[in-house]
Amino acid sequence: MKLTGKTAVYGIIGHPVKHSLSPLMQTAAFEALGIDAVYVPFNLAPQNLKEGIEGLRVLGVKGFNVTVPHKEQVAELVDFLEGDAEFLGAVNTVKNEEGQLTGYNTDAEGFLRSLLEEGVELEGKKALMFGAGGAARAVGYALLKGGVKFLHVVNRSFPKAKALGELLSRRGNVLVYPLRDSVVETLLDEADIIVNTTSLGLHPQDPQLFDYSKIPEEKVVVDIIYNPPLTPLLKAAKERGCKVINGLGMLIHQGAVAFEIWTGQKAPVKVMREVLEGELYG
Ligand code: ATR
Repeated sequence: MKLTGKTAVYGIIGHPVKHSLSPLMQTAAFEALGIDAVYVPFNLAPQNLKEGIEGLRVLGVKGFNVTVPHKEQVAELVDFLEGDAEFLGAVNTVKNEEGQLTGYNTDAEGFLRSLLEEGVELEGKKALMFGAGGAARAVGYALLKGGVKFLHVVNRSFPKAKALGELLSRRGNVLVYPLRDSVVETLLDEADIIVNTTSLGLHPQDPQLFDYSKIPEEKVVVDIIYNPPLTPLLKAAKERGCKVINGLGMLIHQGAVAFEIWTGQKAPVKVMREVLEGELYG
C-alpha cells in the first residue's frame, strides 16, 4: 500500500474498538477497487465523543463507522440524519462532505440484504424476534420494512419489549411478549421466520434462550451472532431441517452499504466476505 498526500482517510469510532472487524473488511474493499484510502480504528472514550467528532470533521476524515457505545449519541451530534438513522435514533455510518456530517444507519439495510442474498422473502410473512436491545431495534425495523405481515417480539425484560414495540408499531403490526416457554411455544408455531438478536449463544456456557427442541421443522431461523458460526440455536434449528442464517451476512452488508455511501461504488462483497471468513473461521 502506498500512502500519499491524497490518500483519503476513513475509520471507525468505538470504545473499545480493538475487536472490530471493520478495518480488515473495509481495507480489503478499498484495495480490491484500487481506491486510494485507509480505514483506521479510533478508540474514543464517551467523555471525549463530542471533541472526537469535531476532530474527525475538521481533519477531513471522509467517513467513519460508529459502534458501541456511541451510536445513539452520534445521532445527536451530526448535522443531518438520513431516514433509517432518524427513525432508529442511532447512527452507524457518517459521511463527511466538506465539514458537513450526515448520519446513516446501515444495519437494517444490511440485515435485509443478508436475507435477500439467502433467498429469503419477507413480504406477507410472520416474524418472531427475540431481544429488545439496540440490535433488535434495527432488525425489527428491517423486518417491518421488508414487508412482514406482523412481528412478535419476545424479551426477558418485558418493559424493554414494550418500549421497542411502541417504537416499531409506527412501521407495522407489532405485539410484544415476555420470555416464557409456554408463550414461546405457540409463537414458534405461528412464525415463518425466527430471529435471535440477544447475546445468548455467544459463549459456550450460555443457557438456551428457550427450549430449542420446540423449534418446528422447516422454518427460517436467523441468529445475528456470527461467531460461533452456528450458535446452539442455529445448530438445533439445522438439525430440525430449518434454513439457518448467521450474522456474518449482516456484518458484511452493513459494511457494504457504508462503503457505497462513502464511495458511490458498488462494494466488493465477495472480497469482504472472504477476508472475514478467513479471519473468523480460517
Ligand atoms: P445489543 O445492542 O447487542 O442489542 P443490548 O442492548 O445489551 O445489546 O441487548 C441485549 C439483548 O439480549 C436484550 O434483549 C437482553 O434482554 P433484556 O432486555 O432482558 O436484558 C438480551 N439478553 C442478554 N442476556 C440474556 C439472557 N441471559 N437471557 C435472555 N435475554 C438476554
